[in-house]
Amino acid sequence: MKKVNTKYIRETKLQGKKFSALTAYDFSTAQILDEAGIDIILVGDSLAMVALGYENTNSIGMDEMKIFTKAVAKGVSRAMVVCDMPFMSYHSDISTAITNIGEAIKAGANAVKIEGSGEYIYSLVKRCTEFGIPVISHIGFTPQAINAIGGRYIQGKTFDATQELLAQAKKLEEAGAFAIVLEMVPEENAKYITENLSIPTISCGAGKFCDGQVLVCDDVFGKFNRFKPKFARRYGDMRKLIYDCAQQYDNDVKTGNFPNDDEVFHTDK
Ligand code: KIV
Repeated sequence: MKKVNTKYIRETKLQGKKFSALTAYDFSTAQILDEAGIDIILVGDSLAMVALGYENTNSIGMDEMKIFTKAVAKGVSRAMVVCDMPFMSYHSDISTAITNIGEAIKAGANAVKIEGSGEYIYSLVKRCTEFGIPVISHIGFTPQAINAIGGRYIQGKTFDATQELLAQAKKLEEAGAFAIVLEMVPEENAKYITENLSIPTISCGAGKFCDGQVLVCDDVFGKFNRFKPKFARRYGDMRKLIYDCAQQYDNDVKTGNFPNDDEVFHTDK
């Protein structure tokens, strides 16, 4: 089984094929997603909300991201593991950013994801590329900038805003990013951006014309219930599954039904 790499991701676009990405934050989930054929497993900073219960993604730091990245990387054989660089881990200066990005790679990531655009980000992406560190860029709605944006608002809605997003994407492509996440961008505008780039786009609420799709695993499994983005599709009801298992266990313990004879040790006869 061949490991997914940047060449594979680039070629899927050239061949007109699609690739899949999902987040994972722990060993056993990563193992299942890998076995299911997911191409990219993103240790998203969304884990701040869905796994750690924070209000937004800005409360998580590099130390925590490294722990989750290590756990996910151990569970994966085929997929590309991507560490989402957390808020303020890459903003202060290039040298600190490279140190933190290096830590993510040492923790087992095959690539990193970096939010945003602008001259500083372009030079950071360029430096990573020079050092052989694959980068996925992330533009459109960038959750780490939620306080500046003022909420989870759709981006790139107008002609001018779309041109601006395309200009950012082209700069990121030029700097060496091998793929770009477009988050919460109208489908038609994401199609236009996708058609005008040679690197693949990954939709996170940007419609079906992007080259790949990414969602938060807890949304897909029906586990996270604080909010459900319009663009996320729920494929199961894991909350109910876990609830039912916990309730049955609770009942079995309290009625003396657990453990049974197969579930205990006995002394030697
Ligand atoms: O943190 C995250 O989960 C993301 C998305 C693109 C899914 O960045």
